[in-house]
Amino acid sequence: MNSNLLKTGFVDEPVSADIDIKKAIKQLCKEKNAVIMAHYYQPNEIQDIADHIGDSLALAQYATKTDADIIIVCGVHFMGETAKILSPNKKVLIPDLNAGCSLADSCPADKFEEFIKQYPGYTVVSYVNTTAAVKALTDVCVTSTNARKIIEQFPTDAKLIFGPDRNLGDYINSVTNRKMVLWDGACHVHEQFSLEKILELKKQYPNALLLAHPECKKPVLMVSDYIGSTQALLNFATESNKTQFIIATESGIIYEMRKKNPNKEFIPAPPLDSSCGCNECNFMRLNTLEKLYNCIKYEQPEIIIEESLRKKAEKSILKMLELS
Ligand code: 13P
Ligand code: SF4
Repeated sequence: MNSNLLKTGFVDEPVSADIDIKKAIKQLCKEKNAVIMAHYYQPNEIQDIADHIGDSLALAQYATKTDADIIIVCGVHFMGETAKILSPNKKVLIPDLNAGCSLADSCPADKFEEFIKQYPGYTVVSYVNTTAAVKALTDVCVTSTNARKIIEQFPTDAKLIFGPDRNLGDYINSVTNRKMVLWDGACHVHEQFSLEKILELKKQYPNALLLAHPECKKPVLMVSDYIGSTQALLNFATESNKTQFIIATESGIIYEMRKKNPNKEFIPAPPLDSSCGCNECNFMRLNTLEKLYNCIKYEQPEIIIEESLRKKAEKSILKMLELS
């Protein structure tokens, strides 16, 4: 395989305008026994052709169950790593290696290791939005869907470190009455929501419920009507008898919310700078149909994890799946 194909972090080959790209992707997947998993924050057209869409927890669970030979993760790098950690014998591909995560980047493994050393005897809990190297330092991973349930399984006085999201950690501390020591990291998308603009929107839509992801800052969470993971927000909106919702998380989830609830109205919560479009995760949006087509065609870029690191990281994810 020509490694020059990956100069840019993705296979940068022009795709002929004459082909039906969605059909061609599906055909290649069939020929190669490949499955496409997409996070809810993916561009709409990628969600449309995915075999499975879900939040971080659902994608990790699918990765343990599929009998495909190739898993294509349309999401960000740590999601590809999670799939590879759980399915070491499968080929795991990601359309663009540049799809990182500001939250995972806010927690470098060497610094996190020093931090842990300051708290001997503590159990380390990490959000899955972390690199494999951080997972290898972790006792149990959580996602925003299962964090509360998993933390509640520890005694109230358990000594716990939580990383890397300070907002999720602070929220879980408050709802579980724990005092976990928090790593000071955050996601740039969820921290961008403007409380002032949200309060203005609430005035404009007095009947709308504000649904927020726990990665948002505390002032936004304090004025929310419901706080939950991406999947939990989708479930809440679907089950609610209300018809208008302001959504304070990455706006990609609104596509599925509208599909499931065509008669309800979903209003994206505005970021501080409305012109930046930063309620969209720029990393998630790096994936395109063209990159996905080339990814399956050339089977690149592939996620590779050194085996001893994979084994260390696997324990914390398996522990999470056991406790979920
Ligand atoms: P969930 O998929 O766990 O809701 O996480 C949100 C997120 O930021 C994923 O990158
Ligand atoms: Fe990371 Fe935030 Fe993007 Fe999720 S939305 S992938 S946490 S930067």
